[in-house]
Amino acid sequence: MMFIAFEGIEGSGKSTVLEWLCDRFAGQGVSFLRTREPGGSDIGETLRALLLDARQTIVPEAELFLYLADRAQHVRQVIRPALERGEFVISDRYADSTIVYQGYGRGLDVEELFRLNEIAVGGLWPDMTVLLDVDPAVGLDRARVRNHEQGTDVTEGRFETEELSFHHRIRQGYLAWAKRHPRRFHIVDAALPMESVRAVIVNFMNTLLSHSNK
Ligand code: TYD
Repeated sequence: MMFIAFEGIEGSGKSTVLEWLCDRFAGQGVSFLRTREPGGSDIGETLRALLLDARQTIVPEAELFLYLADRAQHVRQVIRPALERGEFVISDRYADSTIVYQGYGRGLDVEELFRLNEIAVGGLWPDMTVLLDVDPAVGLDRARVRNHEQGTDVTEGRFETEELSFHHRIRQGYLAWAKRHPRRFHIVDAALPMESVRAVIVNFMNTLLSHSNK
């Protein structure tokens, strides 16, 4: 079993990569759980709706505690039990999103956020965090194309509506934070063709698995 989280800005290709990895696990008969933040637990889905809806009016501190509440429930009700059953857990975002969006993005103190996250996750950090790194101009273009294809134009209250400079801060925040946790973070150049992105991820996973089997 292994806990893998995916991080990245909007349009980094997270969903496509997650979809592919889950198909791969399913094809190999590996038991896994796919989950996401915000969301993931029953209460979490309610918090998700609230968060994504309230974003334009919520104060950063209130937003923070909702993300942390979501995570505390998610870890104990969903992630830990799945790992105890021996499953792989693949999460679309996790605690690093709070550090980066609420810290580097909203300007809350990063060290304090780390401590609060520790309480929320109860010491459970991913074995591997894949950061899909891409220039926000490329990412937002992708997100716009996707929204257009799905007939959902830019959703209200999403960070997609923020200024480009906000997304640059998020990208730089991810890179800075990843540098501080070089063993856990694996940075993938998400501007590469999807086959290369996949190959890099498989490589990371194999290395990690061979270490954990030793
Ligand atoms: P979502 O629609 O899932 O976006 P994406 O496809 O980019 O993952 O919305 C999740 C949003 O929540 C995303 O804009 C990042 C934000 N977020 C935070 O600000 N803090 C957090 O702790 C988490 C988990 C997400």
